[in-house]
Amino acid sequence: MQKIANLPDMRQFDPIARELLEALNEPALLVERRIVQLANEAARDLLGNIEGSDVRLAIRQPQALEYVLKGDPGEIDFTGVGAFGRPWRLVARRVGADVLLLRLVDRSDAHAAEKLRVDFVANASHELRTPLTAVIGYAESLQEEGLEAEVAARFTATIRTEAERMYRIIEDLMSLSRIEADRFVAPSDQVDLAAMLRSAIQNVRGQAQECRCKLHLELQDDLPTIPGDFAQLAQVIDNLLSNAVRYGCASADCDIRLAAATEDGFMRLEVSDTGPGIPRHHLPFITRRFYRVDAARSREGGGTGLGLAIVKHIVERHRGTLSIDSELEKGTTVTVRLPLS
Ligand SMILES: Nc1ncnc2c1ncn2[C@@H]1O[C@H](COP(=O)(O)OP(=O)(O)OP(=O)(O)O)[C@@H](O)[C@H]1O
Ligand SMILES: [Mg+2]
Repeated sequence: MQKIANLPDMRQFDPIARELLEALNEPALLVERRIVQLANEAARDLLGNIEGSDVRLAIRQPQALEYVLKGDPGEIDFTGVGAFGRPWRLVARRVGADVLLLRLVDRSDAHAAEKLRVDFVANASHELRTPLTAVIGYAESLQEEGLEAEVAARFTATIRTEAERMYRIIEDLMSLSRIEADRFVAPSDQVDLAAMLRSAIQNVRGQAQECRCKLHLELQDDLPTIPGDFAQLAQVIDNLLSNAVRYGCASADCDIRLAAATEDGFMRLEVSDTGPGIPRHHLPFITRRFYRVDAARSREGGGTGLGLAIVKHIVERHRGTLSIDSELEKGTTVTVRLPLS
């Protein structure tokens, strides 16, 4: 510690100062009276062989350089170093009278997270605004005089449907944020998946019969219970099964299969349908919030586009894996693997 306090004489302590700089993950340099005295490997990779050169040669980005030349401690965000458009934060700290420690912190992840947040707020607002616009429009029409009772009843029914859709979106969003809030809390129930699957299949039997879908349940004998969150795992099964029925119904005589078996320390749960399938190019995005292949069809069926996002978050909380395979005209299989202990 004493040596660090003496850093203005740093050349004398080069080995320690260098070790300290190298221990930082990000590009870091020590600048003494405008000369780069030391630069760690990450800084040399990014800025070239700059040790011993004028700081104006090392940092060419005008705003960042101006900041460094002022010599004040603080931070500035900028782009223009390394890969095109990569955002950086330059952090300047004084270590002694004439020495500045400069760190270049890569802000790409923070920017990506911020973009995700902004997109999410925009999408959620859009999803809520659509039904809300309908509610306002129909409510205004209801206020018109001389409306026939039958028309008024139709408008009221639409208002109710749209309001219920908003309610579902809000419920799903709250569900997502609860799952996210609990993501580091290990689930504490012991879940009998076989019983859960049997009851889930009962719930969709009527709907499946209506569109002549056949339901099959394949359970390994003596399926063990697994550690998990009872309500969340039920939600995973409900969401996957309701997708299989809702989208599988579009194909005549669709077969829907639910299977569970143990495999290498995991419980493998499969929900498959012989429905129309999902075009390959949609698959990488299918678990994103509000992502739908056919928005109109999903909305018609009351979908919010949040079902698979919820499944993904629940599976992540359970330290499991989720994979979705699909082939057009052949069908879709969703596989969830959950650790047995
Ligand atoms: N088994 C399936 N077969 C065909 N397409 C599917 C299947 N499962 C999901 N999809 C497609 O993936 C999209 C996203 O599914 P997800 O479950 O996240 O939302 P949703 O079903 O539209 O709404 P929600 O589940 O919130 O009611 C769906 O809109 C649909 O286009
Ligand atoms: Mg769904």
